[in-house]
Amino acid sequence: MSKESMKQDVESRIKDLRKQIDYHNYRYYVLDSPEISDFAYDQLMRELMRLEAENPELVTPDSPSQRVGAAPASSFPPMVHRVPLLSIDNAMDTEELRAFHQRVVKLAEREDIAYCCEPKFDGLAVELVYENGVFTRGGTRGDGYTGEDVTGNLRTIKSIPLRLITNDPPGLLEVRGEVVFYKSAFADLNRERSERGEPLFANPRNAAAGSLRQLDPRITASRALVFFSYGIVDAVSVGLGSQYETLKRLSSLGFKVNPDVRLCRGIDEVINFCLFMQEKRESLPYEIDGVVIKVNEIDIQRVLGIKARSPRWAVAYKFPPNQETTTLRKIEVQVGRTGVLTPVAMLDPVKIGGVTVSRATLHNADEIKRKDVREGDTVIVQRAGDVIPEIVAPVVSRRTGNEREFVMPDTCPVCGSGVVRDSAGNNGAGGVMYRCVNMACPAILKEQIYHFASKDALDIDGLGRKIIQQLVDKGMVRDVSDLYALTRDDLMQLEGFAELSTSNLLKSIQKSKQTTLRRFLYGLGVPHTGQVAARDLADHFGSLERIMEADKEELQAIRGIGKEMAQAISGFFSNERNRTIIRKLEQRGVKILQQQPSEPESASLAGAKFCFTGTLKSMTRSEAKKAVEERGGQVVSAVSSQLDFLVAGDDPGSKLDKATSLGIRILGEDEFMKMIKEE
Ligand code: IVH
Repeated sequence: MSKESMKQDVESRIKDLRKQIDYHNYRYYVLDSPEISDFAYDQLMRELMRLEAENPELVTPDSPSQRVGAAPASSFPPMVHRVPLLSIDNAMDTEELRAFHQRVVKLAEREDIAYCCEPKFDGLAVELVYENGVFTRGGTRGDGYTGEDVTGNLRTIKSIPLRLITNDPPGLLEVRGEVVFYKSAFADLNRERSERGEPLFANPRNAAAGSLRQLDPRITASRALVFFSYGIVDAVSVGLGSQYETLKRLSSLGFKVNPDVRLCRGIDEVINFCLFMQEKRESLPYEIDGVVIKVNEIDIQRVLGIKARSPRWAVAYKFPPNQETTTLRKIEVQVGRTGVLTPVAMLDPVKIGGVTVSRATLHNADEIKRKDVREGDTVIVQRAGDVIPEIVAPVVSRRTGNEREFVMPDTCPVCGSGVVRDSAGNNGAGGVMYRCVNMACPAILKEQIYHFASKDALDIDGLGRKIIQQLVDKGMVRDVSDLYALTRDDLMQLEGFAELSTSNLLKSIQKSKQTTLRRFLYGLGVPHTGQVAARDLADHFGSLERIMEADKEELQAIRGIGKEMAQAISGFFSNERNRTIIRKLEQRGVKILQQQPSEPESASLAGAKFCFTGTLKSMTRSEAKKAVEERGGQVVSAVSSQLDFLVAGDDPGSKLDKATSLGIRILGEDEFMKMIKEE
């Protein structure tokens, strides 16, 4: 074969790989419905990386290989927005919504106004520029006129298409939307940061902003950011007549669009939807702080026009804040699983958004200083979604002079050992963490055991904090492997233990010996390794030995595992103490089942409402119903705004039209099958 034709072969293989990877990325990150295993995906990615490394002249900016993160930048160049990003006026209650509607009716000189209502993401606004269908530039909102060009970081966000799904792309397309951090990923990130002694992010929004404004795109790549689109600049130029159509177009071009969008006629429907979202807010995987209400038809938007900095055709209904005031009695210091000292505010119990709050995290000493929170203060406490309650600020006017300033102890409040201050890693806001130096500190050990025995790890039923406390305090357990050497006599010595409780606990310990690789890895508390990473590692390597031997490069080849994480994982497994504990666990009978037992059916569809239309090829209606119900979901017969999913089989009926008009998420049979197949 000639050199020329070999080159052509490589080129076409590269093209083919990119196409496949783009497609699978889209299934995974935009539709949440992957078609192939992570392993198969990794294989494709690796082949592409190899071919591109061998043929660097063939690398293009829209190649999926470019998502891994380019070299660090020293600063971000400005990005001037061709059309400024406006802000939106707020409506603080339903009265203000009605007033908004009245203004619209008056200025538009018509009564029948349709509104496109969308949850208001609490993230970071960005603009993406596509030239001839290829993502070329993107930046933050900044002051609305000029933001920062963070193209390299945006490229790492997998839900941002690097190439639009269309055969006929416009010369220029400017897409707007919001980068958000999912609540669960936020909790994982903060847990990892606290384990590493780094300052925590106060909320998902700050985490999104901090991650997007990273000078090192590889750090951005390691963060689970998600982009939701909600607008096209000059939508009319691409043939669009309404906001609702715009959202549909964005979805068909490969963007993620919020499924909770509703087209409402008249202000009563709008108000109902706002109240509905206010209820639903807590159960969403990301944070929203209101609903954006936009006049649907672009012609009417044009009639209404814009005033100084915000359009007359849109308003943001803001949810009432989940805030209350209460008294901060005391600041206690807790020692976490990795020895980090965290101050916690002990509050007079107060109900916020239906939940009683009596503690709130203060993150670290810097945070206390910055907010000037003192023991005895009246404080404003806030709960946002599932996020841990936090102290917003002290009410300074209520001070009596008896408040006490907090000082971080210079010895560990649990074991009395010295405390070191380390400045946090290079990828956060910076700051100082205090950490107990004693590897055998009982507080650290107790937290490790608690984590090891937790439901998602080794699942030792009945091994609660009180028992762990006694086991550690009496010196019976010095590391997790000692749990498997406990005898009947040992347990009978514990307070409150009798025949039955002893035999029950021994049984649970015995039972936990048969485990899976995922659980085992998670339970060990490998730094940065939450349940998702543990699953990915287990699926990729298949055995503990292989993971323990893996080097950083091999670890980094896995989707979702960045440089930092790979470093921490390989560091954990080369640590002699950790290796000894693993060996002892094996010697004492902990067995990782090669054939992973099918985990009990999880309530993966908990609370979700499904409706079916048309004929399914792979199962009967009643089988489908059973599958949904077994996973905690509910099947209803009619389409209403309360529905979460409409599953459309062959020959769908009028339910499909109705669901579409209500903005309900439609699932094809394949998507539905994937959904019920997932763990
Ligand atoms: S539309 C004139 N839609 O709210 C309307 N904004 O705009 C322009 N935001 O920081 C914006 N969710 O990023 C729109 N579904 C949504 C939104 C949304 C959140 C943010 C936006 C900006 C602020 C004001």
